[in-house]
Amino acid sequence: MVDGVSIWLCSLERLAAQADAYAPFLNTEERRRADRFHCARDRHRFVIGRAVLRLILGEVVGELPTQIMLGYGAYGKPYLLNQPASEDLRFNLAHAAGVAIYAVARGREVGIDLEDVRPLSDAAAIAERFFAPVEVAAFRTVLGTADEALAFFNAWTRKEAFLKALGDGLARPLDSFAVSLLPGDEPRFLWIDGDRVACWHLHAWQPCPGYVAALVMPTRPAATAAEDPPAAPGPPPPYPRL
Ligand SMILES: CC(C)(COP(=O)(O)OP(=O)(O)OC[C@H]1O[C@@H](n2cnc3c(N)ncnc32)[C@H](O)[C@@H]1OP(=O)(O)O)[C@@H](O)C(=O)NCCC(=O)NCCS
Repeated sequence: MVDGVSIWLCSLERLAAQADAYAPFLNTEERRRADRFHCARDRHRFVIGRAVLRLILGEVVGELPTQIMLGYGAYGKPYLLNQPASEDLRFNLAHAAGVAIYAVARGREVGIDLEDVRPLSDAAAIAERFFAPVEVAAFRTVLGTADEALAFFNAWTRKEAFLKALGDGLARPLDSFAVSLLPGDEPRFLWIDGDRVACWHLHAWQPCPGYVAALVMPTRPAATAAEDPPAAPGPPPPYPRL
């Protein structure tokens, strides 16, 4: 694993029955957001996921979970508001099919993604439309084989973790960088338009059976997007929705 980052994995499914006990950890706005879920299962997952985030951040900064204050970047990336400047904690999270994953790092941006590996009828079409040519070529070699779904979600999670590390990177085209994706190949960036692959760590693993996760962080604090002037939100390029 990359030095200087802590990871938590949580089964939202297993804790769903205790959603009412977790709800008091949320602030008013989060409770309103929870109330907007029509489906009880999704509401419970949101409540647990948000409460666990607050418990984790509270533990790390030594505050009560209810005292954690979150801000949001131009493209929705959450960040910690009330922390001593010396702490400089950054975090990111992802959820998929009843599981949540959290990453907290000090002094460096972090992006994390998680997916449950499943067959997708339009995987090939999504890859052809959105992935970089070298990724499309690699993906074609496993089309129709037992490796297809894993290869697709390897690419998806690695690419999304990079965009989430950038924070404002949702404005970056998905084919402006490439990752390895074939099962058995070392997880790595193949190239990044306008940046050096050596500036970024990519870690990918199976956090629990049936899921893949990816974590991306700059190798040095100087490479963080957070030190750049905030990007004005422009229209995002088209992205696939799973
Ligand atoms: C914002 C986005 C990255 C969230 O992804 P998702 O798959 O819907 O959800 P995930 O479980 O991965 O992550 C959700 C969490 O990401 C965080 N998040 C939201 N916007 C973010 C941003 N701009 N940057 C980083 N993290 C962000 C939030 O904490 C959110 O959880 P919350 O709503 O419970 O607070 C996604 O909706 C998006 O727009 N992606 C476009 C890029 C894309 O299509 N990539 C495909 C890769 S091939």
